[in-house]
Amino acid sequence: MRDETGGARFRTGARCIRIQETASNPKSVRGSGLPHIQIVNLNQALNIDDLRRIAQRRLPRVAYEFLERGAEDEVTLAENRAAFERIRFKPRTLVDVSGRSRQVTLFGKTFGAPFGIAPTGAAGLYCFEADIALARAAAAAGVPFVLSTASFVALERVARAAEGTKWFQLYMSKDRAAARALVTRARDAGYEALIVTTDVPVGGNREYNRRNGFEIPFRLNLNNALDGALHPHWLVNVFLRTLLASGVPRFQNVDTDVGGRIVAKNLSEFRARREALDWTDFAWLREFWPRQLLVKGVLTVEDALLAVRHGADGIFVSNHGGRQLDCAVSPIEVLPEIAAAVGGRVGIMADSGVRRGSDIVKALALGADMVFVGRAPLYGAAAGGEAGVRRALEILASEVDRVMALIGCTEVAALTPECLALPEPLPRRPAEAQRAVS
Ligand SMILES: Cc1cc2nc3c(=O)[nH]c(=O)nc-3n(C[C@H](O)[C@H](O)[C@H](O)COP(=O)(O)O)c2cc1C
Repeated sequence: MRDETGGARFRTGARCIRIQETASNPKSVRGSGLPHIQIVNLNQALNIDDLRRIAQRRLPRVAYEFLERGAEDEVTLAENRAAFERIRFKPRTLVDVSGRSRQVTLFGKTFGAPFGIAPTGAAGLYCFEADIALARAAAAAGVPFVLSTASFVALERVARAAEGTKWFQLYMSKDRAAARALVTRARDAGYEALIVTTDVPVGGNREYNRRNGFEIPFRLNLNNALDGALHPHWLVNVFLRTLLASGVPRFQNVDTDVGGRIVAKNLSEFRARREALDWTDFAWLREFWPRQLLVKGVLTVEDALLAVRHGADGIFVSNHGGRQLDCAVSPIEVLPEIAAAVGGRVGIMADSGVRRGSDIVKALALGADMVFVGRAPLYGAAAGGEAGVRRALEILASEVDRVMALIGCTEVAALTPECLALPEPLPRRPAEAQRAVS
């Protein structure tokens, strides 16, 4: 069994992903005729950081730094973790937690765990057709998956390849015809929600990408060619396999008029049009998109209220994992005031800095209806393809479950700020605000 997990939800099943397929065992890497050359025992990864370390070993510097690092001096990147760590639990004891559940209901659907996979562009750098691997792993775990506009696999193929709840993240073009064409594709492919990312009017200042030559258009230089050669597992199983299966990686969802190749110059022109977007574009989208519509990148009460006023069904409280504006506040710090202002009226998603189930529980207790992870599943993808993503989700789910038991909580709806000791007092929550939007 290769890259298979089987078994019950969140159980990886396979003790070890058996991916050693050599010339004597010619069941080669699907679609490429190339052999796999490494074995990883995913069960030895006990937490997300273990998966990160495997990913770091496997990936060339250019790919690892694109995944791992943050904008400018990485103040926000570090603070996303530190802000979680400053929050402590106030556990209740002698509570019967034997019948606990980590399920949540959101937008009329019940999910197996209170977290989902955030959109990550260029995920195909981390395993072959990573967008499909992520979507399938999310489906197996019963959690939502958000496909990025900047995926290497076309949104229609991802929709066909995986069951489960799929949402589409939109990098909206100011050009209405281009935006309409992409949104229509997402609607026709059956994506249940549209997540409009608003915190990228311009690209964040990621100096490491420039140092590594990882910019759009991508230019192969001696350093990254050598780096690739020094990481043969990645070179064979990800890079060459992708090249043989579908040619030079393309952002398959980007309007073909502007060109989707990562080596194409005019892709940066497509991105440039984003800086002219404002709430009137969102209002236009609201008229046009018939299903759930969410705004990603909200960090203030003012914008949360504007999102409500413009008909959003939900918001993502997010600083893009510290990849955009350095020194931006961390979502977990502003979540209480945002939940106090709009909780119960729209669905509140939170992401940025989540590496442990305890982080997820903290965000839920502070008003999130669902928590999202960006890097964590990609570490899994780099460590072991779809099985690695499943392992990441399994780790997070079991950590959520354990923390809920240890704090004496039997259901997600019972997670409230009273479960926590906070560094600062909370804003008052209006009486009408409720937890889940169902
Ligand atoms: C490699 C990578 C690519 C990303 N690409 C996108 C993207 O295409 N669209 C988007 O809205 N957010 C993108 N994000 C941000 C994530 O959706 C999410 O907000 C962030 O990763 C959460 O922080 P975490 O990585 O600490 O969990 C990306 C993040 C990473 C790490």
